[in-house]
Amino acid sequence: MMPWRGVIEEFRKFLPVTEQTPVVTLCEGNTPLIRANRLAKRICPHVELYLKVEGANPTGSFKDRGMTLAVSKALEKNVRAVMCASTGNTSAAAAAYGGRAGLPVYVLVPAGKVALGKLAQAMAHGAIVIQIEGNFDQALSIVKDLCANEEFELVNSLNPFRLEGQKTAALEVCDQLGRAPTYHCLPVGNAGNISAYWKGYKEYRTAGQIAECPKMMGFQAQGAAPIVRGHVVEQPQTVATAIRIGNPASWKLAEQAVAESSGAIRMVTDEEILDAYQALAKEEGVFCEPASAASVAGLTKCSQAGLFPEGATVVCTLTGHGLKDPDIAVEISPKTLTVKATREDVLALLRS
Ligand code: F0G
Repeated sequence: MMPWRGVIEEFRKFLPVTEQTPVVTLCEGNTPLIRANRLAKRICPHVELYLKVEGANPTGSFKDRGMTLAVSKALEKNVRAVMCASTGNTSAAAAAYGGRAGLPVYVLVPAGKVALGKLAQAMAHGAIVIQIEGNFDQALSIVKDLCANEEFELVNSLNPFRLEGQKTAALEVCDQLGRAPTYHCLPVGNAGNISAYWKGYKEYRTAGQIAECPKMMGFQAQGAAPIVRGHVVEQPQTVATAIRIGNPASWKLAEQAVAESSGAIRMVTDEEILDAYQALAKEEGVFCEPASAASVAGLTKCSQAGLFPEGATVVCTLTGHGLKDPDIAVEISPKTLTVKATREDVLALLRS
């Protein structure tokens, strides 16, 4: 069997690339789709539950799928530099792929609201990291303005190549399952990913690869739920910093995706997010970041409300790796124990 070549080569016929496009890849994609029986038994016993573990991508999030395409197309276009606003993961991916392409990378992030691992990645890969004293929405607005001239290439999901790349996750899910799931649950922040998945499912159906598309279920954090509330949230707040967004760029596309698929966008509380986050790590061995767990928190809520019919297949995308945000894991887990370095002291502790 040929080794996996990254999403551009593996899904070339579904993507806007030509023989002239220089492919910048870290062999992203081909992430695990794993059955989650223990969790399902507790939270949705009548459902067949799968987790699409996107933290297994090279920079630890689903952003790599879109960034391989956006950076390859930027290189093809001969741009001078790439730029993005980010809650962290987009900047990590832009820094890695931009670095690999030999392009300068500029990222704007909300000061003090980016998980440590993500900040470390952007810095390590050599991006110029600018922290703004504001939130993601303000950062995006500045970046859009700066990219309006030719100097910088925007690699946020307003760049259509980002969504083209990200749609490959839906194609993979179908290939791995041998069909489409009945429901697909995702966290929603800037609303690009749910839109990308929906595009992917529709294109796979048109190509005859699947008979039906899933219902798309998106979940926002309660303190950052503009789509659910129907208005911009000026001061979004949530423990899930990746989705701390009050004015999503792909708002309309996401609404279209749920309308066309007969799905929905709902909200979950920070408490529900953290419960799901801990359950995934403890009961399934999958360490994702808090934002990712919004998909499972939403699944739990919808299952309790009786939304899923008996025997439904549900896929939850876990968008980013838990190591991205070590602070939160340490903060909410039981404390570690320290004793003297003797057998007796350890034994005494174990028996206490
Ligand atoms: N999960 C994670 C881990 C994310 O980093 C993001 C978005 C989302 C979910 C939501 O996806 O924006 O397509 O609806 N992160 C962006 C960033 C905003 O800058 O890294 P979305």
